[in-house]
Amino acid sequence: MEINEAKFVVSNSDYKLCPNTPMVEVAFIGRSNVGKSSLINMLCNNKKLAKTSSTPGKTQLINHFLISDSWHLVDLPGYGYAKVSKKMRAVFHKMINDYLEKREQLVNTFVLIDSRIKPQQIDIDFLCHLGEQGIPFSIIFTKCDKLKPREVEKNVAAFEDKMFQFWEELPPMFQTSAEKKDGKKEVLNYIEAILEQ
Ligand code: GTP
Ligand code: MG
Repeated sequence: MEINEAKFVVSNSDYKLCPNTPMVEVAFIGRSNVGKSSLINMLCNNKKLAKTSSTPGKTQLINHFLISDSWHLVDLPGYGYAKVSKKMRAVFHKMINDYLEKREQLVNTFVLIDSRIKPQQIDIDFLCHLGEQGIPFSIIFTKCDKLKPREVEKNVAAFEDKMFQFWEELPPMFQTSAEKKDGKKEVLNYIEAILEQ
């Protein structure tokens, strides 16, 4: 699958105000600055679609993008951004969790993991939460261009080991680079398979 048509629809702070259509959607979540917006732009062949920034905390709302007039791709704010107040963190937390737990159109959540670092407790906690809530997810390792392939493999293996402490079976996993457009075909083909179900 290739995405030839992607348009921004709306930004919301409340899942109840998200587009009122039966179209299915897939969402992208992960730690602040992990590369969610960049990955969405890479998948859609449009560098200006979702706003990106080298400073964490850029995406602050639930953003819907309409793809080929038939499904939605959703860019979410990151979690774990240290430089926001406790109160704001609670607001983001509720916005994201309400969306993930209650949005009926949501068929898959891609959790993005930074391929450059060792397994982070905050990511594991987040995945465990999704598991407990029965929210279907898959994993995308980002920024793979920044390390040697061997080091990426090492970090991916460490992450898998960590996940095996909590799960018997691992979800689909993808290695990507928004910079080099690596992993694009694999992620899009997986989305296509989900949409066909
Ligand atoms: P928030 O919205 O703030 O939570 O961040 P985000 O997860 O949407 O990250 P964003 O896409 O804005 O990217 C953060 C920074 O990482 C930007 O400076 C990007 O250019 C950079 N970046 C994202 N993906 C890649 C990648 O695959 N390779 C490289 N080298 N840099 C990347
Ligand atoms: Mg973003």
